[in-house]
Order: sequence, then C-alpha cells, then structure tokens
Amino acid sequence: MSEHKDTHEDAAAFALSRRTAIGLAAGAAVAVSVPAQEAAAQVGPLRVKPAQTLTIRPAINGRRMTVEIDPRTSLLDLLRERLGLTGAKKGCDHGQCGACTVHVDGHRVVSCLTLAAKTDGKQVRTIEGLSRGNTLHPMQQAFIDHDALQCGYCTPGQIMAAVACVAEGHATDRATIREYMSGNICRCGAYPGIVAAIEDAAAKMGRG
Ligand code: FES
Ligand code: FES
Repeated sequence: MSEHKDTHEDAAAFALSRRTAIGLAAGAAVAVSVPAQEAAAQVGPLRVKPAQTLTIRPAINGRRMTVEIDPRTSLLDLLRERLGLTGAKKGCDHGQCGACTVHVDGHRVVSCLTLAAKTDGKQVRTIEGLSRGNTLHPMQQAFIDHDALQCGYCTPGQIMAAVACVAEGHATDRATIREYMSGNICRCGAYPGIVAAIEDAAAKMGRG
C-alpha cells in the first residue's frame, strides 16, 4: 500500500515539475500548476516570448536599417521573414547546402548559421542587391548564358558563392572552382553549366 502511494506521489511530483518547467519556459513569472485534465485540454503550439530583444543596424544591400530582433534570430530568417528578401533560400537550415549564401562585409556566409546579431554595423549583400538597376551582374548573366540551372532553387546561393569564389581568386581553373564551390549543392546536377558560368564571369570580372 505504501509502495503504491509512493508511486502515485512520484508520478504527481513528476507531472508537477514538468508543468512547472513548461510554465517557466513559456516565460511565466511563477510556476504554473494546472490540473492534469485541464492541461491536456490546453495542448497547442507553445509560444516562447523572447526574454529580451536586441536592436541592430546592418546595411542590407547598401541601405542602413534599424531592426529589433530576438537575439536568437538567424540572418536567413531576418532576411526572409522580417525584411521580405526571399532570394536566399532555406534548403537544409543546417549549413549543409549553401542555398542561403549571402555576403557579410564581402565574405560569403551561410545565413542559416549566422546570427543576425553578428551583422550589427556590417554590410550584408543578398542576391537582390547584386544587379545595378536593370543591368545584371556578370555572374547572373553568365548563369543565364550557360543554362546553369534547372529548378533554380539553389541558384541565388550558387551565384553569391560564385561571386565570392571569383573575388577570393579561386576561379583559376575548373578543378579549383569545383573545390571552392563544393559547399553549394545542386540537386538538379547543373554543375557543368555552373562551372562554365563561373569561368566565363571570372574573365569578365577581370579575376580568376
Ligand atoms: Fe543554409 Fe542549407 S539553408 S546551408
Ligand atoms: Fe535545381 Fe540547383 S537548379 S537545385
């Protein structure tokens, strides 16, 4: 009987501590104690309110802006969800595909693994900021000329990585281009066109 009672008490304590933890995680100032049936009826998305916000001032495609963010926000989510710049794509969200590649202070980064907070005061360039008015960047034009895409999902990341690849001096030959573009995956297998486009654009950009 006492063993039975202990088991009940253990279960009750566990349920309470679990609810307490959820309550705290949700930003509640005090521990929440909810009857089990009531708690079950409240199942729904857990909305976690940030404990604090951060104000940052990056220059996005040459335009300085002030943005208040949750400190945990990725650069990719800031661009896509807050600023409406949907050129950079969310492929894996784990730094493995390169679809989200943008430039920060001229260097390529995977924006899904870059905290937006790290871009405070920096220059961020996305595919939307690459052309000059109606004149495409030589890399954009070369991708068109060499048919370097099929579905196009990876293309903004490929182009941003390719521009950086040339600027880094890594577009010297096909093997080197392949090596330094290896972080950008193309599920359609448009690699021959991509490499040809980079060779072509590198010559026009006076690099490589
Ligand atoms: Fe960032 Fe795949 S979405 S690397
Ligand atoms: Fe389809 Fe690259 S063009 S994933």
